[in-house]
Formats: sequence, structure tokens, C-alpha cells
Amino acid sequence: MVKQEIFKEEINYIKSATIRNSAKALVDAIPDYFFEEAASSTGKYHPAYSLGKGGLLRHTKAAVRIAKELLDDPVIGNKYTTREKDLMIVALIMHDSFKRGVIPEKYTRADHPLIAANFIYEHKDEFSLSEEDALFLQKAIASHMGPWNTDYQGVEILPVPKTKWENFVHMCDYLASRKCLLVPFDEQNHITV
Ligand SMILES: [Fe+2]
Repeated sequence: MVKQEIFKEEINYIKSATIRNSAKALVDAIPDYFFEEAASSTGKYHPAYSLGKGGLLRHTKAAVRIAKELLDDPVIGNKYTTREKDLMIVALIMHDSFKRGVIPEKYTRADHPLIAANFIYEHKDEFSLSEEDALFLQKAIASHMGPWNTDYQGVEILPVPKTKWENFVHMCDYLASRKCLLVPFDEQNHITV
């Protein structure tokens, strides 16, 4: 499986060649199960297109596309630098990448934002990420769940978004999980519009 090919469109949204190369290496590190997984096993929390085989991939692509659409509007996009926009796209590509852990477990890990965030930070050299960029990604990914920051027992385990970049990443993930917003996909998991 050529993982970079699957995320080709999303990687091409990234303007900086350096960050684009890091994104390619990051995408290659996404566990295989991610590409088969549904975004929600119950269907309770996600729109129809993100259910079933490949649902998590489609959810991720929808979140990235929502970011791209918002950032293309200068009233919204001009509030961020090109680097910040690039890194928010990378954060969204990677936000659910370790949903069932580094070594696949049976169920979704409530702390999956921290697993992805820390994996990227700890391996930053392998992904050719600067300390600053790795920290940006770590924070944005760790807080992407927004107010849903507890484990299954209700204990707070995740940070909530604090900066405008963390807010933006959470907002895009949140919009991509709304049942009223349907993104059209073809059989190859490409967005058709
Ligand atoms: Fe998500």
C-alpha cells in the first residue's frame, strides 16, 4: 500500500516543500489498520460516509478538506501564516492516525490524540521536523477532541485547545463529525467535488 498516494491530494495542499516532505514521511508511518477502519463503530457520532471500511480515512480526508475550504477564504485564511496553515493541515492528516494505538488494540484508545501527538514528537528527527514544528503538531493533535477530553470513566486525560491553531484543528475535526454535513466520496475514497 502506497500511503503517500492515498493522501496525495491532502499532501499537495501543503505549500512548504520541507513540511510536505515531513508529511510524506508521517503518512508512511500511519499504521495499516487506519486505512481499513471505520471512524465510528456504532455510527452514533459520525456521518454516513465515515462508517464502514475506510471510514476513518474518509473522515480524515473530510476534515482536511474542510480546513482547506476555510483557509482558502482570505477572511479566515489571512489570520494564519503559510507555515501555520501547512502545519494545521498536517495535524489534521495525522490527528486520528493511531486511533487503536501504535500496536493495534481491539478498541479505540481514548488517549489516541496523545499517542499520535507523542509519537510524532518523539520521532521528530525521523520526520525531519524542527523542534518548533514538532511541538506545534503535538499540541494541535493532543487537543483535537476539544471538550471530549475524558476517558471512558470520565477522568480528564486530554488537553483542551488553547490557541487559535488548536481551536482551528479541533473545529475541522468537529465539522467532519457532524451528521448534517455530508462530503461526497467515490469508491476509491476520493472526494468527488
Ligand atoms: Fe477525527
